[in-house]
Amino acid sequence: MRARLLLLIAGGLVLGVCAGLLLVPGALDRILPKAGLASIGQATVGGPFSLVDQDGKRVTDQDFRGRYMLVFFGFTYCPDVCPSALQVISAALDKLGDKASRVTPVLITVDPERDTPEQLKSYVASFHPRLVGLTGTPQEIEAVARAYRAYYRKVKDERSTAGYTIDHTSIIYLMGPDGRFVSHFTHVSSVDTIVAGLSRYL
Ligand code: NI
Repeated sequence: MRARLLLLIAGGLVLGVCAGLLLVPGALDRILPKAGLASIGQATVGGPFSLVDQDGKRVTDQDFRGRYMLVFFGFTYCPDVCPSALQVISAALDKLGDKASRVTPVLITVDPERDTPEQLKSYVASFHPRLVGLTGTPQEIEAVARAYRAYYRKVKDERSTAGYTIDHTSIIYLMGPDGRFVSHFTHVSSVDTIVAGLSRYL
């Protein structure tokens, strides 16, 4: 008897909630996760950011307006993908000569714990004199990676003294002078591919 009563009450509650969801405007929207829906109809890549450069200076996306940006997410302790991508970017810019002055290469770290401005400073200088290294708080890095739809994940690595390495996207984003996404390359794109790709816009 009691069990049946409880069942009736429970059933009533479920019905009530369902009816409420249907009747109250926007109730379903508020409960269903918004993630993913925001991308429908406008596949935006990139966006505002506020980070710290290799000189310890705070910079935002606005500071890069008027020039193209070649954005790469990586980290200084990366054993292979990052160095080869940065080498290819640097070689492509050198090959472009004067036209390359309209392009700013940017490395955004996905390892803000280890990649301090000081750590980035010597690293970026070893690739290209104009390569900008950006770091920030873990939250700021998370936000900029989300904006660029870049993926990164800390994974255990016994060989590393820090005990971890980071899996990450190896896309090289070409952003326009207005800050909008223009095109992309990858870490396996050749120097000539990048030169040809950039030449279309410069
Ligand atoms: Ni890497």
